[in-house]
Amino acid sequence: MSRAVVVVAAGSGTRLGIGTAKAFVPVAGRLMLARALEPLFTLTEPTLVVVVAPADRLDECRQVVASVAGAAVRYTAVVPGGADRHASVQAGLAVLPDPVEVVLVHDAARCLTPAHQFERVFDAVATTGDGVVPALPVVDTVKRVADDVVLETVDRSTLVGVQTPQGFPLAALRSAYAGSSRSETDDAGVLQAAGLTVRHVAGDADAFKITTAWDLARAESIVRARTEPVPARVRIGLGVDVHAFDDAVRCRVGLLDFPGEPGLSGHSDGDAVAHAVCDALLSAGGLGDIGGRFGTADPRYAGATGDVFVRGAVDLLAEAGLVPESVTVQVVGNRPRIGARRGEMQDVLAAVVGAPVAVSGTTTDGLGFTGRGEGLAAIATAVVRPA
Ligand code: CTP
Ligand code: MG
Repeated sequence: MSRAVVVVAAGSGTRLGIGTAKAFVPVAGRLMLARALEPLFTLTEPTLVVVVAPADRLDECRQVVASVAGAAVRYTAVVPGGADRHASVQAGLAVLPDPVEVVLVHDAARCLTPAHQFERVFDAVATTGDGVVPALPVVDTVKRVADDVVLETVDRSTLVGVQTPQGFPLAALRSAYAGSSRSETDDAGVLQAAGLTVRHVAGDADAFKITTAWDLARAESIVRARTEPVPARVRIGLGVDVHAFDDAVRCRVGLLDFPGEPGLSGHSDGDAVAHAVCDALLSAGGLGDIGGRFGTADPRYAGATGDVFVRGAVDLLAEAGLVPESVTVQVVGNRPRIGARRGEMQDVLAAVVGAPVAVSGTTTDGLGFTGRGEGLAAIATAVVRPA
C-alpha cells in the first residue's frame, strides 16, 4: 500500500477540561475518534490508517478502530503516543511499512474533517512531491502587539490558518523529524525547517480543531443540524369562488342548508365555500382547478352537491401521494350569517377533507357585489403534505 494516514489521538485534552483523553469524548453521541476515522474508510484508494493513542487506552482504541473500519480493519494499526504531539507523530511514522510513499498526518481533534479534504491533500502531494497543508484565509484583522500596545496591523492577505491533514512524501518527513529541533508547531513546520517546500490547498470550515468546550458545543450543533430529520415538506394552495344569489334555488353554503335564505346559482349547487375549498386543495397539490377537473361539460356534476367536489379533490391528492393537513375558508357576503353555524360547518367540512377546517365570515362594508347583496364569495387556503 503506497499511502497512509497517521491520526494522532494521544493528547490529554487539558483545555477541554473533561478529565478524559480528548479523542474518547463523545461528540453528539459518537466518540471524537470514531468521527475522525469515519472519512478515512470512504477514500477511493486503499489507505493504511495508523492511530496513535494514549498508552493506557490501546485496547479501547482498537475497538473503536474496528467498529469504524469494518472489513478494512486489516489495514489499520494502533500504537502508543508520546509526551507531546511531536513524539506522537514520530511514533506513528515509525511503524509505517516501506511501501508507503505518501503520508498524511491528522489530528483526531479535527473530527469533522470531510473525506474530500484528505483526497485533496493526497492529490496535491502526488502532483507536486512537496509538503501540503490545507489552509483557510484569515478573516479577522490581525495586529502585532507588545504588552498592551498595538504595534501594527499585519497584512492578512498574505496569511492563512492551517489545518490537518498535512501531507508529505514519507521519506522526507521522516528525515525532517529525525533532525527536528522540536520547536516547530506543526508537521509542515518540521519539513520546512529541513529546507523543503510546503504548499497549501483549500481547507474546510468543518476541519476546525476541538480544543475548548465551546469548540465541542459547535461540533455537536453541526452534527445535530446534519442529522435532524427534514420536516415533511408542506405545500399551500389557494381557492376563490363566487356565485350570484338566485331566489329560485335552496341555499347551500359550506355543505349546510340555510332554509329561508336565497340560494346561489350555478351548474352545481352553487356552494361557493365548498368550491373554494376544492380549488385550494387542488392548487396545493398542483392539480389544476375545479373547472378543469370537474367541468360543467361533464353531466356527472350537474346539480352535484359541494361535498362531491371536495371529496374529489381529496381523492386526487391521495393519488398524488398527498394528504390535507389543514384548510381555512372565509365567507365574504351579507347573507347567510355564518357565525351561529360556524362549528357545524367546520365539522361537516372537516369530515370530508379529513383534516381540520377553520371557517370565518366577513362583509365588505356595503361595497362591491357582495356589499350590494348580489352574491357570495369564498376564499380558501389549504395545506397539504406528503402522505
Ligand atoms: N496529540 C497527541 N499526543 C500528544 C498530544 C497531542 O497525539 N502527546 C494529538 C491530540 O490527540 C490531538 C492533536 O494532537 O488530536 C492536537 O492536539 P491538541 O488539540 O492540543 O490536543 P490535546 O493535547 O489533547 O489537548 P490539550 O492541549 O488541551 O491538552
Ligand atoms: Mg495539546
